[in-house]
Amino acid sequence: MFAERVLSGMRPTGHLHLGHYHGVLKNWVRLQSEYPCFFFVADWHALTTHYETPDVIEQSVWDMVIDWLACGVDPNQATLFIQSKVPEHSELFLLLAMGTPLGWLERVPTYKDQIEKLKEKDLQTYGFLGYPLLQAADILIYRAQFVPVGEDQVPHVEMTREVARRFNYLYGREPGFEEKSLEAVKKLGSKRAKMYAELRVAFQERGDDEALEQAKALLQDAQSLSMADRERLFGFLEGARKIILPEPQALLTSASRMPGIDGQKMSKSYGNTIDIREKPEEVTRSIRTMPTDPARVRRTDPGDPARCPVWQLHTVYSDEDTKAWVQKECQSAGIGCLECKQPVIDAILAEQQPMFERAQMYLDDPSLLRSIIADGSDKARKVAQETMREVRESMGLAYD
Ligand code: TRP
Ligand code: SF4
Repeated sequence: MFAERVLSGMRPTGHLHLGHYHGVLKNWVRLQSEYPCFFFVADWHALTTHYETPDVIEQSVWDMVIDWLACGVDPNQATLFIQSKVPEHSELFLLLAMGTPLGWLERVPTYKDQIEKLKEKDLQTYGFLGYPLLQAADILIYRAQFVPVGEDQVPHVEMTREVARRFNYLYGREPGFEEKSLEAVKKLGSKRAKMYAELRVAFQERGDDEALEQAKALLQDAQSLSMADRERLFGFLEGARKIILPEPQALLTSASRMPGIDGQKMSKSYGNTIDIREKPEEVTRSIRTMPTDPARVRRTDPGDPARCPVWQLHTVYSDEDTKAWVQKECQSAGIGCLECKQPVIDAILAEQQPMFERAQMYLDDPSLLRSIIADGSDKARKVAQETMREVRESMGLAYD
């Protein structure tokens, strides 16, 4: 019924690292050729935790968008925009807020987690509590089928589904639907009306599909009904409501665990990252100074790749031959660690080469970047406005 659409967003955290590339952006690049994709910068979400320092957000936004483009996200295929440039998100957020139980928000696992984790910040705010509901608005306003996210975001997509279900339940009927339907039932004539009512109960209360079919046939044959009444009674039969906001599905990004330069998961908070546009000298230095198997003190000591963070990187970057070479030569002390690290350095530099090339154009001419976002935001806005028109109408807010 609705066009297939993928939507995902990222908070502007500034320069992205290779963990973002392997974990998220490679996936976006694949999806953009398979579906109409909407990818956006969640700058309002950044404010939920950085409301005291909003000045850091702007530069982060542009650095991040350049990194998206560097990774091959293609503005000719996907629609790229900034959340705050589509203010309709906030209107939907507000309208959804009216009927969203507080408990739904308080129970989202990231809520208490983040308050615990980010102790230095005061997150006892209305905005932070509303974080997942704003995310629900982001998704629902595009009526997206698929939302590629990491595992931590799945509860947010689940809540989005509940919010959509509740919205459709509350507002997915025409005003006076029930009364109009009951009036229409009377027009069937008393015998048919009684049968219709019985069949409807049999289907709705006992899931009797046979009864549903019989009732449909009955309506089909009823000459006394107008078109509108017939449609209404079909809907009434199934308790059907109009689906205004379809329920999205999370597309779990396969948990490729990109190791950082200390063997832990690559993450800004661990300080173990290699940025997407990290300078080659810096990449080389980082890898060359990486810790290795602690048992391998001297060059002549044999090592064990299983205890070495460099091996983790080989599993991401090296082919079978290279991996076999590492296994054999490490355990027999046939190679030194610097020798072992070189293929990883080469592979990362090779991976980054096209990224630097793609980014250069936008660094040379930032107006290109601005116009990609302006165009994307216009396009997104048209879709969002169409949804809001229907949302307002269904809530009785269409006054003209
Ligand atoms: N909460 C997401 C994150 O931290 C970012 C986000 C905001 C998002 N709105 C979204 C992701 C809508 C998917 C869909 O990563
Ligand atoms: Fe690690 Fe390679 Fe050194 Fe073995 S040879 S300890 S795998 S860096």
